[in-house]
Amino acid sequence: MATAVLSLNEQRKTEINGCVKDIRAMISSDGVTPSTLSEVRARLLELATRHDLFNSKIFPVQIGDNTSSLYLLSEDDKHEYAFYAVSEKQGNMSPPHDHTTWAVIAGIEGEELNKFYRRLDNGESLGQAQICEFHSEIVGAGTGVTLMPEDIHSIHCLVDQPTLNFHFYGRSIEHLPHRKAFNMADGTYKYFPANPHIHK
Ligand SMILES: [Fe+2]
Repeated sequence: MATAVLSLNEQRKTEINGCVKDIRAMISSDGVTPSTLSEVRARLLELATRHDLFNSKIFPVQIGDNTSSLYLLSEDDKHEYAFYAVSEKQGNMSPPHDHTTWAVIAGIEGEELNKFYRRLDNGESLGQAQICEFHSEIVGAGTGVTLMPEDIHSIHCLVDQPTLNFHFYGRSIEHLPHRKAFNMADGTYKYFPANPHIHK
């Protein structure tokens, strides 16, 4: 039994390292563009088919984490190419936010509603921002979304089944001090702190 568990852990690590290597090569070669991020999404969705290595039993929402748990799978020594598995329960949601780095989300199981927003103001007033929703997509098994650094989205887990996604960021969320969380009704934003409980 112990040998089999170790073997799966080793396989998972090997697959993670291979995926990160491929994604690093894509970004290094072609730069951060919507087209490159689509290639990154395809590579993540390929890895997401390995349900034996990535599922919500292996990456559950942990006790004490409320409705979501964030697992760090990999990052480099500059805190770049940060790769996470995010596990959610029904009711988990984020406010509209940007990332200040590129980001790709790829579905493994369950469903997560992603809403996308457009900024309407010119960004000249500190703490003030007018945004409006213009699009939404469901992220589930076989689908994903891509975000350029300035793109704004919110996430909403509306289903009662466990939901697990890959989140891949150009830089670790612990090293993105200027991510903004927007209050659409008030027309304001605040800086958005990282989840304080990242399982490593
Ligand atoms: Fe996000």
